Amino acid sequence: MTRATIAQKSPYKVEVQEGRKYAWCACGLSGKQPFCDGSHKTTDLSPIIITASKSENLYFCGCKQTGGAPLCDGTHNTL
Ligand code: FES
Repeated sequence: MTRATIAQKSPYKVEVQEGRKYAWCACGLSGKQPFCDGSHKTTDLSPIIITASKSENLYFCGCKQTGGAPLCDGTHNTL
């Protein structure tokens, strides 16, 4: 299993739109953080895809070590 690369040690705040799909980068290699740009193809990791249930601000994990993917759970504070 490939270890995820830390993109940044803090979350990315994103205003999501209800009903829209978002593909969160799980490998940390994407150039379009916090979302997938296909870079995981060099790893055995895959993005996590969610559909926003409502329009709101979400905090997507940037360290890629969260236990609550794709959202920040505070794990970055321990890195
Ligand atoms: S940015 Fe990864 S747990 Fe907060």
